[in-house]
Amino acid sequence: MPTLLNRRQWLKAAGAAVAATTLASPSRLLAQAPAAAPRRPPVAPGLVRLNYNENPFGPAPSAKAAMHAAVDGSFRYADAEERDLLELLAAREGCRPEQIVMGAGSGEILDVAGFHFGLEKGEIVAANPSYMALLNAADRVGGKAVRVPLNARLEHDLPAMAAAVTDRTSLVYLVNPNNPTGTVCGAAELRDFVRRQSERTTVFIDEAYLEISDDFAGRTCAPLAVGGRNVVVARTFSKIFGLAGMRLGYAVMPEKLAVSLRARMTGSLSIVTLAAAAASLKDPDYVRDTRAKIRAGRDALVAEVKALGLAYAEPQGNFVFFRTGLPVQDFIARMRAEGVEVGRAFPPMTDWARISIGLPGEMAACHRALRRVLG
Ligand SMILES: Cc1ncc(COP(=O)(O)O)c(C=O)c1O
Repeated sequence: MPTLLNRRQWLKAAGAAVAATTLASPSRLLAQAPAAAPRRPPVAPGLVRLNYNENPFGPAPSAKAAMHAAVDGSFRYADAEERDLLELLAAREGCRPEQIVMGAGSGEILDVAGFHFGLEKGEIVAANPSYMALLNAADRVGGKAVRVPLNARLEHDLPAMAAAVTDRTSLVYLVNPNNPTGTVCGAAELRDFVRRQSERTTVFIDEAYLEISDDFAGRTCAPLAVGGRNVVVARTFSKIFGLAGMRLGYAVMPEKLAVSLRARMTGSLSIVTLAAAAASLKDPDYVRDTRAKIRAGRDALVAEVKALGLAYAEPQGNFVFFRTGLPVQDFIARMRAEGVEVGRAFPPMTDWARISIGLPGEMAACHRALRRVLG
C-alpha cells in the first residue's frame, strides 16, 4: 500500500525529501529510498499493548486539566506558550533557552540530527542493538553507521566505541538506558568517555528513559552539554511523563549546534501539548509516583523471567529484555495468541524479546501468557 500515508507519515517523507533535495548530492538522492513502512504498525484492538514502551499510567491529572483548559485557546498559534516552556526547560537544565531545541517528540530531533550528521561527514558510531531512528534518518541521506556490539552485560561497550571513532566520525550516538536492552552505562565511565570523545567529535546521548532509572541526577550528561562541550542530550515527554501521543521532546546542546539543528526543523508545536508539558514539569510528586509504579511492574516481570530460568539484561527503563530461546517472530505470534502484544525483533539478538511495563492488570495477563508460552 505505498500510497496510503497518513498526514504525519506524509510530512515526514516530504520533510526528508526536502532535506535531501536541498542538502544532498544528486547521486545520494538517486540512492535514497522513500520512507516506506510506518514507524509503529497498528496494534489489533483488544490486545494488551506491551510493545511500544509507552507509559500507560498516563499524564498527571494536573497535565490533563491544563490540556482541557488549553483547548479554549487552541484557535491561536502558540508563540508565548512556546517561549514559556523553553524558559521552564532552560531553568530545569540550568542553561540558556537558546541551548534548547524542542521537537514533536524526541523522535523529530533524532531525525533532524540524523540528517544533519549523516550529511556532514558521514560516519555515526552507535551500539548494536540500539534505538534506530537517528541511524535510519542518517541512512536516508547517505550517512554511514558504524555499529559496535554491546558488551557481555549487554551495555554499551565504551572502550570499543572509543576505538571506533576516527576522523570520518561525525557523531557518536549513545542511548542511556539503551533500547532494547534497558541497560545503563557506568556513570563515571560514561562521563569520562563523553569528555574525551567530545574533544574529537559530537557526542549525542539519548536519555529518553533516564528519568525512570535509579539515579537520574548521577547519570545524566546534560551538565556536559550545558557547560559548552560538543555534546547533545535528548529527552522526551513520552516516557516518564506519559505523554507519548502529545508528541514533545527536547535536546540540550551548545548554542551554535542548536542554531543548525533548528534550521532543519519543519514543524511547530501544539498549544495543548505545550500546556501539558508545562503542567507536568510542575508536578514532581506525580512523576515520583509513576516511577515507583513502573519499577514495581518491572521488578515483578524480572522475577517472573528469573523463575522461568531465562537470561535477561539488567533493566533501568520501562521494559525488560530477555532471552526466550524462541525465534522472536514465533514468540510474538504465541504471545499475541494469548492476547498480549510484545516488542519486535532487535537483530542480531533474534531469540530475545522486549516487554514494556503496563498497568497491573495488563501485567497479570502478561505473566499468565508468559507461563503458558515459556513455562
Ligand atoms: C531510545 C528512544 N529514544 C527516542 C524515542 C522517541 O520517543 P518520542 O519521539 O516519543 O519522544 C524512543 C521511543 O520509543 C526511544 O526508545
